[in-house]
Amino acid sequence: MKTLTALLLLPLAVHAADLIEHAKAHPDGKAAFSFDATAWGDAEATRHLPIGVFDSGIGGLTVLEALLTLDVFHNDTLQPGADGVADFSQERFIYFGDQANMPYGNYSAVQRTDYLRELIVKDAIFLLGRRAYPTDGIAPHFKKPPVKAIVIACNTATAYGLEDIRQAAEAWKIPVIVVGVVEAGARSVLESKTTGGIGVLATVGTCASKVYPRTIASTLGLAGQSVPVIAQQGSATLAGAIEGDAAFPDSVAAYALKEARALAEAYRAEKPTAPLQTIVLGCTHYPLAKEEIDTAFATLRQEAAFRDLIAEHRTFVNPAEATARELFRELATSKLRLKPGEVCVLDQGLFYLSVPRVEEVGIQLSGDGNLDKDYKYSRSPGHLDFEDTKNVPLTPALIPVNSAKLVRERLPAVWKSLGK
Ligand code: DGL
Repeated sequence: MKTLTALLLLPLAVHAADLIEHAKAHPDGKAAFSFDATAWGDAEATRHLPIGVFDSGIGGLTVLEALLTLDVFHNDTLQPGADGVADFSQERFIYFGDQANMPYGNYSAVQRTDYLRELIVKDAIFLLGRRAYPTDGIAPHFKKPPVKAIVIACNTATAYGLEDIRQAAEAWKIPVIVVGVVEAGARSVLESKTTGGIGVLATVGTCASKVYPRTIASTLGLAGQSVPVIAQQGSATLAGAIEGDAAFPDSVAAYALKEARALAEAYRAEKPTAPLQTIVLGCTHYPLAKEEIDTAFATLRQEAAFRDLIAEHRTFVNPAEATARELFRELATSKLRLKPGEVCVLDQGLFYLSVPRVEEVGIQLSGDGNLDKDYKYSRSPGHLDFEDTKNVPLTPALIPVNSAKLVRERLPAVWKSLGK
């Protein structure tokens, strides 16, 4: 008889099933969307592999920054407490941003979550495999190392794909750790010991999945805490504005104010008895605009209608640091963590981004060379012999100018690791 959990998870695996079987049918990892199934044969070799991190684009670099800078454990004793040495200093990371297929947060609004889920499992397969494309090449090479852990840095991808990837790893029988940002974000809410209400700011897709209210409620509930009012607001504009996308011409502050107002109204509609206290930054980009978001709530509080609804001092939850802590614990527990003095097979981190495979017949591009928006959002899963994007090294030329500025100014460890 199936367990309740298995029954609950069953529908999640259905859409990824073809991809799981496809990868199994190509165990040498030469075909698109497959990986070398022998890469994790020896436990000792596995430990020396890098850690994969993926996002829909460059927003997940906020999570990579947390991974590169975390220092909350003693590296020798594993006891809590900083020791002046970054907790992952021995490890190396491979970052992948699925820039060609983003924003992930908008697939649910056009009823394409099946396709989104396929994209997310493909992201994991890319990190697991050796297959990647050179910057200008039309044929893949097989020199990229596989990974021992996958961090889903994207909130939307965690919402729609975490269980699929975990189930796929189980089906493939590979000893790979899979960590997402949502469970970690919910634990941060618990640790924040919030006394007021909770607001989640995220993409439209993440909010449609209701993953944050569900996970926060169960995390607080299991810890024996009462669950306060949780409201959420999905934005289709804020992430793009933070990246400086020309499609969103207003200032980040203006979009932040609009979303803060909508979140406060959603909170009011729940008839709360305590003010909105804790704001979960449930999108990779939002930690980069925390100041603008906090200012937006402060501005709202100047209006009489919001004064008692919003707490005077708000707590912001950025799931990135808790994700880094969770990865550290998981690696240590599974004995996959590199110890001081040991080295990874990579001597430096690697970065990849997806770009349209312009040589492929049948893909449609927009004037700026990206996938055409209508084409992008009309695709269906199941075409596993067709690659309309390819994953190439992330070079400065591939990072939009505004994003490069953000990374340089706000994510210094990532910037340094990029070789800047
Ligand atoms: N990375 C996405 C997230 O954290 C935001 C951008 C997108 O919609 O792709 O949800």
